[in-house]
Amino acid sequence: MIRSVVCGFGASLPKRVMTNSEMETKVDTSDEWIVQRTGIRQRYIAGEGETTASLGEAAARVALQRAGLTPADLDLIIVGTSTPDNTFPATAVNIQNRLGMHHGAAFDLQAVCSGFIYAMTTADVYIRGGLAKRVLVIGAETFSRILDWSDRTTCVLFGDGAGAVILEAQEGEGTNQDRGILTTHLRSDGAHREKLYVDGGPSTTGTVGQLRMEGREVFKHAVGMITDVIEAAFSATGTSAEDLDWLVPHQANRRIIEGSARKLGIPMEKVVVTVDLHGNTSAASIPLALDTAAADGRIKKGDLVLLEAMGGGFTWGSVLLRW
Ligand code: UT7
Repeated sequence: MIRSVVCGFGASLPKRVMTNSEMETKVDTSDEWIVQRTGIRQRYIAGEGETTASLGEAAARVALQRAGLTPADLDLIIVGTSTPDNTFPATAVNIQNRLGMHHGAAFDLQAVCSGFIYAMTTADVYIRGGLAKRVLVIGAETFSRILDWSDRTTCVLFGDGAGAVILEAQEGEGTNQDRGILTTHLRSDGAHREKLYVDGGPSTTGTVGQLRMEGREVFKHAVGMITDVIEAAFSATGTSAEDLDWLVPHQANRRIIEGSARKLGIPMEKVVVTVDLHGNTSAASIPLALDTAAADGRIKKGDLVLLEAMGGGFTWGSVLLRW
């Protein structure tokens, strides 16, 4: 049975760090409020010349180097992003060109904060279907460019960055002991679109627009949706919380992460938390967290790792994999 195995990972952050105390100089907020309500202490903000494509390219180069591969070895690039460099062409083809890759295919996938989960799932389908042997999966965002910097209820929450993994087709036994992706579960419900959206776009206003969110409404749904797709992953594979080595959640809010882990009986020692350092980087948050925990030696070869996200749309989903 073909499995999609992670053979490389990488990340890239903008040079500029913005702390909560700097945020206090921009809007009526406080470090205490931000930390207490979200767990965020700082975020990275893209500067001149730093874009979704440049950050994605840098993350991809690290992943290729760790995998011992070159762009010539890739068949496909999928970029999860809601903040593309341009409305078109896709950020993925921009990154493809920056990498000097002129074969195969590249496309973007837009599922807001669930973008990396959607992109991993799509890559897994291509690999298991025999359509690609190696897929570069990137989550990259510059949310700072679509924030309303006068709205304290949203601008303190988000940050910029990119993360990448390379998935490679490898033969497995068809058991839970195989390395690679074991199961994926995607969900969406467009009835919730106005709770988290951007108030512009090419076909409506002809502008990029700015992020709008009813935070409390999103919060209300988050834990239930996250536990739904985690339970789906457990029941599809006959696994349970005790079998997990690591939960790597989308990093939106520490309280949502803790609430989901508590409901599922997953101790916080097994949860990778980077929201304090990166803020909410939407589709980039999971690969940034994966990079952090794999690079510092927490996530090791053979570990059972569960990824989950929930965000605008609403979209939500999970990926269970053996590292
Ligand atoms: O990644 C995609 C998914 N997004 C999320 O998962 C975000 C989900 N939502 C959340 O994380 C939380 O709802 C927030 C962090 C956005 C807000 O936390 P909350 O505990 O739900 O606060 P709230 O919206 O109920 O606001 C409480 C108070 C309000 O004041 P009043 O009405 O009680 O006087 C707000 O005006 O906090 C006020 N407030 C702030 N105060 C200081 C809102 N933003 C700020 C701020 N600084 N930045």
